[in-house]
Amino acid sequence: MHEIVIVGSLNMDLVVQVNDMPLPGETIPGGDLQTICGGKGANQAVAAGRIAGKAAMVGRVGNDAFGTRLLESLNHAHVDTAYVSRDTAATGTAVILVDSRGENSIVISPGANGQVTEIDLDAADGVLKNARFVLTQFELPMPVIQALIKRMHSFEGKLILNPAPYRPIAPEFLAMVDFFVPNETEAEKFSGVHVADMDSAQQACRVLLDMGIQNVIVTLGAKGALLANPHGIQHIPGVKVNPVDTTAAGDTFIGAFAAAMVRKFSLEDAVCYANCAGAIAVTRFGAQTSIPAAEEVDALYARQ
Ligand code: RIB
Repeated sequence: MHEIVIVGSLNMDLVVQVNDMPLPGETIPGGDLQTICGGKGANQAVAAGRIAGKAAMVGRVGNDAFGTRLLESLNHAHVDTAYVSRDTAATGTAVILVDSRGENSIVISPGANGQVTEIDLDAADGVLKNARFVLTQFELPMPVIQALIKRMHSFEGKLILNPAPYRPIAPEFLAMVDFFVPNETEAEKFSGVHVADMDSAQQACRVLLDMGIQNVIVTLGAKGALLANPHGIQHIPGVKVNPVDTTAAGDTFIGAFAAAMVRKFSLEDAVCYANCAGAIAVTRFGAQTSIPAAEEVDALYARQ
């Protein structure tokens, strides 16, 4: 059985480095095209697998070379791919530009991710029922995400929802979420509070808690994260690093958070540990290529 299960997207990232992002209508030169394993779901699975030593992934890839590479990358990170099926649609892809400041801009072509249905949840029902933490994001069809939220509400395990990229969802589903992990932009969109500083981020947390969410963790990039629940709101500071590429930093944070919870860290310590994992990811290029091993995160965490 698996303590951490990820239901989500698998993408091959088609990445080009640029000095500055192109303006509308502009053509600019870039570096060599690189294909790097990614997808928010698969990135979170790799982070959980590398750090906790074990995880399982539920999703779909195409019957193509990208799909094979993504499965190999997951297996290499100790992720069970028995619940990832091969679809007639092509493997999902993400077209990514990374600028000289490490910021990215991403366009997704969902491919096989868009074919995931409740049938995939039924096939994985046993592992979902027995998981301690189930992670999902917003790169699968919304009916599947809603069905997963409902299903997890009747199971023992906790659901960690990373609402990225932003899409609206009925409040009744948010009220069933155990851990809601948006970034600042997503927190603003879900709460309706303009997040401009720490005070407004805290205000957004209060609105989200009032919707019935058990725990809210707003990731703040270099500033760390806010942890909010009915006991209060805490700022857990980030780790200062020189950014190379922020791609998958949030995914690494979430996978590491789940791994730390399984390792019986307190909530505050798990967020601090996740900050360390995310900070390391930011210093490296690419999605799954940037996700650290447990020993690396442990070492940085010990210095905090
Ligand atoms: O969060 C980063 C990920 O978003 C990339 O790997 C890309 O595939 C998109 O899903």
